[in-house]
Amino acid sequence: MAWINVAREGELAVGQMKRIAPMTKPLLLVNAEGGHYCVDEMCSHEDYSLWFGCIQGRAIKCSLHGSYFDLESGKPLNEPADCPLTTYPVKVEDGEVWVKTA
Ligand code: FES
Repeated sequence: MAWINVAREGELAVGQMKRIAPMTKPLLLVNAEGGHYCVDEMCSHEDYSLWFGCIQGRAIKCSLHGSYFDLESGKPLNEPADCPLTTYPVKVEDGEVWVKTA
């Protein structure tokens, strides 16, 4: 596991997200209620990009079928999705945002 610098602190306003690719699969860095989070970009239901969704509180909504996922745990909050997103540790240090990946 390595910490990778993915954004500057303050780069994302609350409710904004950024596509990042610190490894082979695409991830989303999200500034939401409670801080920054990092999750898989692709929805666990039908492999649709959550980039097209929106942030509400501490959840991200998939715009294809409407499932919400908790950004901290990755768990779906409503159907049809029933599998969690993978989440990745995030820290803000020295004015930079870091994500820990495998
Ligand atoms: S593809 Fe995301 S809820 Fe169906």
